[in-house]
Amino acid sequence: MSPYEDLIIDHWRHPRNKGTLPDPDVDVTEANVPCGDVVRLQLKVRNGKVENVRFDGRGCAISMASASLLTEMLKGKRLEELEEMRQEELLEALGGVIKPRLNCALLSFRTLRKALEALGKTGSHVNPSP
Ligand code: FES
Repeated sequence: MSPYEDLIIDHWRHPRNKGTLPDPDVDVTEANVPCGDVVRLQLKVRNGKVENVRFDGRGCAISMASASLLTEMLKGKRLEELEEMRQEELLEALGGVIKPRLNCALLSFRTLRKALEALGKTGSHVNPSP
């Protein structure tokens, strides 16, 4: 098994930051329309930084593993840093994803963009869908 597959399977079997927050500052859900898979993302923000994060949802192994990994990348980050974050960073952290599965891998990233928009961030660095 490749390191890429190991990472995906580890996050899928042992998701990090899965669940819900009692008092999130933002709570958004995004779906991949063709398959119906969804990711819900909640952020607690303090002093402009992500103090806490949770995700929930249902979907394929890649979408859930990607959401789990993304939550690890968000904790402690300033919202301005998240605005600048590019989808390629998540794909690199996942170890690379084959093109037919890009929509799965980026479902969580699109949910993050939605969360930033809900928080009043413009999402000026939104990347086009693959
Ligand atoms: Fe639906 Fe992967 S098959 S997100």
